[in-house]
Amino acid sequence: TESPLILAEGGVWSCFSYDAVKAVLTDYEHFSSQFNKERSSKEPIESSVLRIDPPRHKQMRTLVSKVFTPRAIEEMAPHIANIAESLLDDMVDKSDCDFVRDFASPLPIMVIAEMLGIPYQDRDRFKMWSDALVGNDYDHYLLCQEEMSAYFAGIAAERRRHPQQDLISKLVHAQVDGEKLDEVELIGFCILLLVAGNETTTNLISSAMLCLDERPDLYDELAADRTLVPPTVEEVLRYCSPVQAMPRRVAKSTELYGQRLSEGQHVNVWIGSANHDEEVFANPDTFDIRRKPNPHLAFGQGIHYCLGAALARLEAKIALSALLNRNRVVRRDRTVPLERLDSSIVFGVKSLPVA
Ligand code: HEM
Repeated sequence: TESPLILAEGGVWSCFSYDAVKAVLTDYEHFSSQFNKERSSKEPIESSVLRIDPPRHKQMRTLVSKVFTPRAIEEMAPHIANIAESLLDDMVDKSDCDFVRDFASPLPIMVIAEMLGIPYQDRDRFKMWSDALVGNDYDHYLLCQEEMSAYFAGIAAERRRHPQQDLISKLVHAQVDGEKLDEVELIGFCILLLVAGNETTTNLISSAMLCLDERPDLYDELAADRTLVPPTVEEVLRYCSPVQAMPRRVAKSTELYGQRLSEGQHVNVWIGSANHDEEVFANPDTFDIRRKPNPHLAFGQGIHYCLGAALARLEAKIALSALLNRNRVVRRDRTVPLERLDSSIVFGVKSLPVA
């Protein structure tokens, strides 16, 4: 069999098997998330929780973790269900609908915009920015990151003067080791929360719609038995992992599967591949909503485990239930071919026109 670790040109390792992916994700001492030696870089995302190591990682994460616990998130269920139903109402009334543009994308944006305390009217910009941040065009990425920084700097200044009950107000007043976050860190946190909660959940919801579209038998089963909705969401997370890969940097030279990884080398951790590892998942390329257990790694593993996992799961369950409530009124136009997103990080489709 092939090695679970492959060294590509340019000195970047790729790791594909379930065990190797898990080993790297759970060993932050050897596999760092921090790509800049200095703690705080000039780039906001590079100084966010996603890209820093302990001990500061935990201190930063703790600032907002209470807001994202499953219990706190569950309280938002009725509100999210209202949003989902009203988005579907609007779609049913309108011709020329697109499930991604009109439902799967606005739903998570509306929810996270409200949590952060930013006006939903700016959603077109949020969408454009988040697309750029997970896209493959680096110049556009930098430009959008600059625009987002200016946008959040304005909101943060406003919340310093007039605090509200939202996440940005929490962050502008938060302290770590007796000091407030610096401006780049603060903005990085805001950008991360906006973007991480967007593209990923949109793709989870669109992929769920697609999986059911391909399997009408499952649609009927789910409509009749709603207890199957949560395991279906888990299987979509495994089968169509919205985040396909995450990067790490070798912080201390080490050995893994007989290979020598040297300090400073980069490692790409292929979550999407781990979730199709036949050693762990029987018939990995079959979409099976009754798969048990289903220990997929779609939300990562270890200290950087997705902060928004409970929120993403809830949004996807609500989205799927709302769709089932409509009994096939909202369904995909199969005459339009599917087009994948141009991204090597996130997995999903660009659009899903509705018949
Ligand atoms: C981290 C996936 C939704 C916020 C992560 C990581 C993964 C992931 C794989 C780990 C990254 C790493 O180890 O380097 C997903 C998927 C989602 C989703 C598949 C939806 C289906 C969300 C949502 C939010 C969010 C809705 C927030 C609103 C975050 C944050 C981190 C993170 C803040 C960084 C945590 C840390 O570094 O400690 N996510 N995510 N995610 N996610 Fe998510």
